[in-house]
Amino acid sequence: MVSKNDYTSFPREYEEFKKKFFELSGINLNSYKHQIHRRVHMLMKKWNIDNYDELFRLISTDKGKYMDFLNYLTINVSEFFRNPERFDTLEKEIIPMVMRPDRSIKAWSAGCATGEEPYSLAMVFEDLKISKTPRILATDIDRDALEKAKKGIYEAKQLQNVKPDRLRKYFLKKSDNLYEVSQVIKNRVNFKRHDLVLDPFDKDFDLILCRNVVIYLEREVKEKLYRKFRDALRIGGVLMVGNTEQIFGYRELGFRSIKPFFYQRVK
Ligand SMILES: C[S@@+](CC[C@H](N)C(=O)[O-])C[C@H]1O[C@@H](n2cnc3c(N)ncnc32)[C@H](O)[C@@H]1O
Repeated sequence: MVSKNDYTSFPREYEEFKKKFFELSGINLNSYKHQIHRRVHMLMKKWNIDNYDELFRLISTDKGKYMDFLNYLTINVSEFFRNPERFDTLEKEIIPMVMRPDRSIKAWSAGCATGEEPYSLAMVFEDLKISKTPRILATDIDRDALEKAKKGIYEAKQLQNVKPDRLRKYFLKKSDNLYEVSQVIKNRVNFKRHDLVLDPFDKDFDLILCRNVVIYLEREVKEKLYRKFRDALRIGGVLMVGNTEQIFGYRELGFRSIKPFFYQRVK
């Protein structure tokens, strides 16, 4: 039985659950901070479940519950042009800096959730009228989030930061509350399932956005990830992190800080 009050009770059972969950989903819960354990426990309370075996039985036999579980853990909330002032910096200063005349920009939205971030980036690229069409890879561990991303249909509240001219150019109004991203923008983004902790990274990116993803990860996992991002960037390429994040020891890692939340690979 899992104690109703203390989520750290029954560590052996939780260890067993994590192993089975890894076999089921490919997601290693050990990489995530302790708060993930607390969230598992909160969900169990909500579902009125008091042991991990029962939780595993439920999520391994009921697809809907499995999705609810993943959604609850990964907290994949996003919005278009999240932190709009950062997108302004990206548009006016960073993209012109990483553009090269001889080839198209190679960008990656790592932990893209339901697609708002890579689509926002595609809109910025489109407005900049870059002659060589940029390539945007958008990845996430959560398959359901990716399915939603590919459909490209969103509620109005997720579009609050979209400027009126972009709303006109890049969205189709489907109903009072629903908007669909235009085909031109959809065509610019290539969605793929990818685990940042376990899977290898592609190389030679000019720009990587990894925002509001690493906050759930353990410190060592996070550091390893930043090293992998550095290696995935070309020298001169830029990593953009979330508004509450910073890379400690970025110099040793081979970055320089060019603006708050933007790090350039220098070696
Ligand atoms: C809060 S969302 C961030 C979305 C977007 N980057 C933004 O800032 O609006 C975090 C996303 O990270 C994803 N994620 C968590 N762990 C991951 C991992 N190991 N590999 C890839 N994606 C992961 C989650 O599935 C979720 O969609």
